[in-house]
Amino acid sequence: MSVILTGDRPTGKLHLGHYVGSLQNRVHFQDIYKQFIMIADVQALTDNFDDTAKISKNIMEVVKDYLSVGIDAEKSTIFLQSRITEIAELTIYYLNLVTVARLQRNPTVKNEIKQKGYLNSIPAGFLCYPVNQAADITIFHAEYVPVGEDQLPMIEQANEIVRKFNALYNCNFLKESKAILSSTPRLTGVDGKAKASKSLGNAIFLSDSKEDVKQKVMSMYTDPDHIKISDPGKVEGNVVFAYLDAFYGDKDELESLKSHYMKGGLGDVTIKNILIDTLQSFLDPIRQKRGLLKDEDVKNILQDGTFKAKSIASDTISQVRDIIGIGAIK
Ligand code: TRP
Repeated sequence: MSVILTGDRPTGKLHLGHYVGSLQNRVHFQDIYKQFIMIADVQALTDNFDDTAKISKNIMEVVKDYLSVGIDAEKSTIFLQSRITEIAELTIYYLNLVTVARLQRNPTVKNEIKQKGYLNSIPAGFLCYPVNQAADITIFHAEYVPVGEDQLPMIEQANEIVRKFNALYNCNFLKESKAILSSTPRLTGVDGKAKASKSLGNAIFLSDSKEDVKQKVMSMYTDPDHIKISDPGKVEGNVVFAYLDAFYGDKDELESLKSHYMKGGLGDVTIKNILIDTLQSFLDPIRQKRGLLKDEDVKNILQDGTFKAKSIASDTISQVRDIIGIGAIK
């Protein structure tokens, strides 16, 4: 079975956007690949080193999110990045194979530097996180990496490192990996302004209560020109319909709801109530599963997964040391 690796920075609870864009794929991938799922706490630290509580309090939440949507610890290896110190070691070796200029050209990093206002004082750790990510991927010999569009430059950079390493040390040890792009469109935030995001506070979390979901749907952006029920309404850009597209099971019925809305005569409260029902019945089994998870068991799952991942990483790193020709006391 081919190895597949994904990861999440544990900077917040996971939301419906994560489910649509990635978690549901992982539930499927665990049956056809050897799946590793990494809680990327070291990578999260690169832009949260001044707020480590944010990371530590979300690790267990994210593992619970995984388990509650059906990621199965018997099939997937869930592990904590910081405990695999071999990844840090491999990162150090890789740093010799990458130039600062190349890192500054990485489009994802470039964007983040601008967003975070790091322009004149980029922390070296942040600039180098793509190298760390290359180590994540290659230490497990991952063949596939499911990612969002914004992560494609990371895979490209990782593959460059692979080629450089193999050429430099005259071996064929590291394998290039392939990105698997999610085919589902990004879910927008409830405000309709941007993608659903934990930092913007515009997301519906997998762990939200019934009341939270109700409130968030009721506050959803619809069509500002749809004032009276009889007015024709816009479906495009209407967040309620974007969520119905993602979660409403009967596509034919949804099409007729849309045309009714566009014609006029279908009110926002009605479609919001339909969405609330849809989301509650989607989330109910997830809530139920989460409610049954015991902290002790969740901790054990993460510990066992980390132990398994560490043994693979340790194998890889000793081979890497041999190839490079470092670390032997002769
Ligand atoms: N960069 C990814 C994100 O922000 C998280 C991540 C870290 C990752 N290491 C990875 C994803 C390795 C895939 C493979 O979402």
